[in-house]
Amino acid sequence: MGWSQRFASLDSNADMTIGVIGLGYVGLPTAIGFHDAGFTVWGVDVSQRTVDTVKAGKNPTGDPDVDDIVPQPASERWHITTSTAEAVPQCDIVLVTVPTPITHDLKPDLSYVKAAGKAVFESIPRGSNTIVVLESTVYPGVTAQTWLPLIEDLGLEIGVDVEIAYCPERFNPGDAAHGVRSVARVVGCSNPEVGDALVQLYSQLTSEDVRYVGKLEVAEAAKVIENVQRDINIALVNELARIFPAMDVDVEDVLSAAATKWNFHRYTPGVGVGGHCIPVDPYYMIQRASDVGVPAGLITAARAVNRSMPNHVAQVLVDILWKAGLSAESTKVLFLGWSYKAEVGDPRETPAEPLAEALHQRGIAVSVYDPHIDPETFPASIEVVEDLTMAKNHDLAVLVTAHKACVDLDWEALGQQMNAPRVYDGRRVLDLDGLQKLGWQCFAVGRPLS
Ligand SMILES: NC(=O)c1ccc[n+]([C@@H]2O[C@H](COP(=O)([O-])OP(=O)(O)OC[C@H]3O[C@@H](n4cnc5c(N)ncnc54)[C@H](O)[C@@H]3O)[C@@H](O)[C@H]2O)c1
Repeated sequence: MGWSQRFASLDSNADMTIGVIGLGYVGLPTAIGFHDAGFTVWGVDVSQRTVDTVKAGKNPTGDPDVDDIVPQPASERWHITTSTAEAVPQCDIVLVTVPTPITHDLKPDLSYVKAAGKAVFESIPRGSNTIVVLESTVYPGVTAQTWLPLIEDLGLEIGVDVEIAYCPERFNPGDAAHGVRSVARVVGCSNPEVGDALVQLYSQLTSEDVRYVGKLEVAEAAKVIENVQRDINIALVNELARIFPAMDVDVEDVLSAAATKWNFHRYTPGVGVGGHCIPVDPYYMIQRASDVGVPAGLITAARAVNRSMPNHVAQVLVDILWKAGLSAESTKVLFLGWSYKAEVGDPRETPAEPLAEALHQRGIAVSVYDPHIDPETFPASIEVVEDLTMAKNHDLAVLVTAHKACVDLDWEALGQQMNAPRVYDGRRVLDLDGLQKLGWQCFAVGRPLS
């Protein structure tokens, strides 16, 4: 029976079993979404801790949107295991949502995609024609280049034992309006019938458009360039935030003026770009461009600008302290926020870490208040402030992450606890005029120091 007939003949979604390999920020809400849509779900993670946490109905990720919605073990359609070999033979469709990080020399690390693919293909029953979909972010060509040799080595036949497809995840952790149930999806697959079947499947997960876009590489490329575009736009505004203060002009004033034009797209400068996507994915595109012999100069330059922001900001902070007559060695800076984005407890690739390192190298001590981050996960060199009323004798507060808890805090009280009330807004979200009235001396990314 072909895939269209298999879908058409379903009495209920529970008769179709979806496997999800990797229960992290992407995989867990995806598994929950398909379970809620009535499908039978097998979730697999290599981490015993993750599996135990999910089995207990708890959220192992830092995404608050997943809190309280993790299915309880009581559901008959909800199976969680560390064993791919146990799960895959039960599944009609397997979604792979494993990490795609970069190596220390900024090259794509495809080891998770290879290992997960190998474990899945080794467990596929012959003749089942199981669809295996890669959802992780990759450069165009990865799904075929990494998985087809594994399939061949195992003697599996495409169209008989297995089908492969690519459907990138685009949701935004911590942003309920753009969760897995409310983002448009694109499906790439060399077999249009399988592509159409996946359009039917994902249409049951998300309320937004789901589209078959043709071959694997189109869907792979679409995802990676979405994040490349964001990195470039952010790099431009970050570069402007370095240029304009040197002319005694506040970049935010320039952006507000420019935004009166109908086609100007406004971005906000910051201390740097973090997370598992934007500071990582452009390296995937740079690698692929290099493989095909085309320079990716603009993408490379944008990465360099965003990567250097923490160092740039560290130098500005040192200037602020120096102008206040303080020597770096005897000063203490308080970071408000550590995770890479607001309201999410995710420290991956956070610019807070290189910023803290750059300050440490200059002899400056750093304390951090971030109620979203598990205190155990901070680097050893950081003094963790769990209760802001205990944050005493700092010379400068730096808003690193625009968590509500860091923006809407008791500024009057904090000002009294500081050696002197000085704040640097690293996200351009604070009411600097209001803070000035409370006696704070205010600085900000993209704002002249004087
Ligand atoms: N986090 C996001 O906002 C986001 C958004 C869109 C796309 N993505 C992409 O989705 C992919 C996954 O990202 P994430 O943030 O969910 O990562 P994550 O690190 O939160 O989760 C990945 C999970 O996979 C597990 N894992 C690793 N190898 C495995 C294997 N062989 N078998 C089973 N489990 C395995 C890990 O233990 C981990 O729990 C990445 O490619 C990322 O770029 C992420």
